[in-house]
Amino acid sequence: MTSDELRSVTSDRFQDSDLILACRGRQHPRVPVWFMRQAGRSLPEYRSVRGSGSILDAIADPDRAAEITLQPVRRYGVDAAILFSDIVVPAHAVGFGVDVVPGTGPVVEQPFSGRSDLSRLRPLDPESDTPYVIETVKRLVETLDVPLIGFAGAPFTVASYLVEGGPSRHQARTKALMLTDEALWHDLMQRLADLAIASLLSQVAAGASAVQLFDSWAGALSPEAYRRAVAPHSARVLEALGGAGVPRIHFGVGTGEILRQMADCGPEVVGVDFRVPIDAARRRVGAHQALQGNLDPAVVLAGEAAACDATRDVLARNDGHPGFIFNLGHGVLPDTDPEVLARVVQVVHDEGRVRRVSD
Ligand code: CP3
Repeated sequence: MTSDELRSVTSDRFQDSDLILACRGRQHPRVPVWFMRQAGRSLPEYRSVRGSGSILDAIADPDRAAEITLQPVRRYGVDAAILFSDIVVPAHAVGFGVDVVPGTGPVVEQPFSGRSDLSRLRPLDPESDTPYVIETVKRLVETLDVPLIGFAGAPFTVASYLVEGGPSRHQARTKALMLTDEALWHDLMQRLADLAIASLLSQVAAGASAVQLFDSWAGALSPEAYRRAVAPHSARVLEALGGAGVPRIHFGVGTGEILRQMADCGPEVVGVDFRVPIDAARRRVGAHQALQGNLDPAVVLAGEAAACDATRDVLARNDGHPGFIFNLGHGVLPDTDPEVLARVVQVVHDEGRVRRVSD
């Protein structure tokens, strides 16, 4: 299904939710809030249903995946659910050979190293390769009374795992491939963009109300490298979703120098990490652009008083701009005290101000 065909089936049940209105910069009563990695090890209820083994097994079980997705919505009263899945699910599902190791992250047995590895990344057929994702989304949409955010890994961040073989500090192999075999690099990025597009379209067709493209490690690149090697592929993913009728969020970490380029890829919302204050981010991308962020997840570990002060600072820097979604600047850390996050939600809901759009 193309994104234009999708528009006709996209549920408009949540069009007037605070999240969707904020993504579009429209008037809404209350600043919406959700957290990246709101589901996960910081929640005792997650640890009790997660089970042992690979997280990919939990993701492939719609009962568990739906329950895990719902847990933080119940506990915190956040304004969105995010699908419990992982950015490497499509590559895993087409048989690339990737697992997710607890405490480490994605690990690839045979990293991508040459042209012959492209054939290990055949196109994704969501109906047969990831039916469990579709099933989980459908079940969630029946149950939830807030919008569900679907997501995919951006081509660069997924490429970095496939090329490095696992998490990497310097992304040296990935950069070497990008610089020494440009044609192969673009072919790889194209395949990964196709995986992201197919996965996102299937999530929207099943009922997701918004999508987030995670380019978590894009901040490892210079602005010039990002422009040449990465931005066109992320832009293609976002464009392919353009007709689907759902807002698109584009997020990365350490992206202060490329925020404008990330906005130019065409999303409704740019996710900002904690290094760039929201007011500065807005000057970089322009006042028409909706933003999401950006409480430092480590500050939440400093306790309730510090977390609430920092929350108020983020809200003050937004200054009532209607195009704003409160989030962390990156994912919830495993040692986070859920009680502190609950207080953050309360502060955002009680004190977050949304200016009248005509002001
Ligand atoms: O609540 C949510 O945000 C939804 C679920 C979600 C997961 N992964 C579940 C998960 C999302 C949105 C992701 C995306 C993801 N996965 C990203 C992009 C976001 C980011 O954090 O930058 C990245 C880079 C990955 C790759 C990945 N998967 C990493 C780095 C890890 C952590 C490894 C660890 O154990 O510390 C994973 C595993 C993972 N994915 C967990 C969860 C809840 C860890 C818990 C577990 O194994 O049970």
